Amino acid sequence: MKNYQDELVIKSITNIAKDVYEMVLVGPGVKYISAPGQFINMKINNSLQPYLRRPMSISDYDDNSLTTVFKVVGQGTEILKNKEIGSTIDCLIGLGNGFSIQDLASVVLIGGGLGTPPLYKLGKELASMGVKVTTVLGFASKEDVFYVDKFKEFSKVYIATNDGTMGQKGNVLDVIKHENITFDYYYTCGPERMLDALVEAYPDFGELSFEARMGCGFGACMGCSCKTKTSPYKRICVEGPVLLAKEVIVNG
Ligand SMILES: Cc1cc2nc3c(=O)[nH]c(=O)nc-3n(C[C@H](O)[C@H](O)[C@H](O)COP(=O)(O)OP(=O)(O)OC[C@H]3O[C@@H](n4cnc5c(N)ncnc54)[C@H](O)[C@@H]3O)c2cc1C
Ligand code: FES
Repeated sequence: MKNYQDELVIKSITNIAKDVYEMVLVGPGVKYISAPGQFINMKINNSLQPYLRRPMSISDYDDNSLTTVFKVVGQGTEILKNKEIGSTIDCLIGLGNGFSIQDLASVVLIGGGLGTPPLYKLGKELASMGVKVTTVLGFASKEDVFYVDKFKEFSKVYIATNDGTMGQKGNVLDVIKHENITFDYYYTCGPERMLDALVEAYPDFGELSFEARMGCGFGACMGCSCKTKTSPYKRICVEGPVLLAKEVIVNG
C-alpha cells in the first residue's frame, strides 16, 4: 500500500458538536488516499510534545483536499483544535487498508460516535453505484450528534442515543432490530464494545474498522497488533483498520 508524507495546509476548523471539530486539509499528498476507511497520522507539533503522531480517520476526500473529524479528548486534540487556519500539519497519508467497495443490493452503515466519519465517503461511493444504503448512527446524547444531514444526502438515517434525547433510546443494534432493517452487508466503525456486539449478532457478512493505540502508524513497531482468526497477529495500522467480521475474535 502506497502512502505519503506531506505538509497539508489547514483550510478550515469548524465546531460541529460538543467538543467535536471538522478540519479540512489541502495539499497534493491527498491523492495518495486510495479507499474510504484509510486514515492519516498527524504530527501535532514541531516540538516533542506530544511525541507520537495522532491517527485520524478521513471522512471525505478528493484529489486535493481531505476532511477529518476529531473529538478533543486530550493534549494532542486540544492543540489541534486551536491551530491557525493557513498553517500546516505534517501528515502521513493513505494509511491502512480501507473498506472494500462492492456492488451489492443493500448495505447498512453503522457508526458509533467518532466512528461515524469514515463511513461518509464510503456511503457516497456506494450510493453513486446504485447500492441501497441505510445509515444507523449511535451517540451518547443529542449534543454529541453530527453528520446526520450529510448521511441523508444518500441514505435513510436512523439515530440512537443512549439517553433518548434524540432518535430512539438505546444503541445501534436496538435500532436495527426495532426498525427491522435488512441488509446484504454491513460496514461499521465505533467503540470496540459496539463492534464486538455487531460481530456477535452478524458474524458472517460485514467489515469493521478498529482503533488501537498506535506508535508508528505504518507497520514498523507492532504496537497496534491484535489477534484474529485468520492469522496470529494483524497490525491494525496496515492489515487494518478494517477487518472482516468473520476474522474478528470478540474481546480479542
Ligand atoms: C485508525 C484510527 C482512526 C482514528 N480516527 C479518529 C477520528 O476520526 N476522530 C477522532 O476523534 N479520533 C480518532 N481516533 C482516536 C484518536 O487518534 C485519539 O482520540 C487521539 O489520538 C487522542 O489524542 P490526544 O492527545 O488528544 O489524547 P491523549 O492525551 O493521547 O488521550 C486522551 C484519552 O483518549 C484516549 N485515546 C487516545 N488514543 C486513543 C485511541 N487510538 N483509541 C481509543 N482511545 C484513545 C486515551 O486512552 C485517553 O483516555 C482514531 C484512532 C485510530 C487508531
Ligand atoms: S502502529 Fe506501529 S505497527 Fe501499527
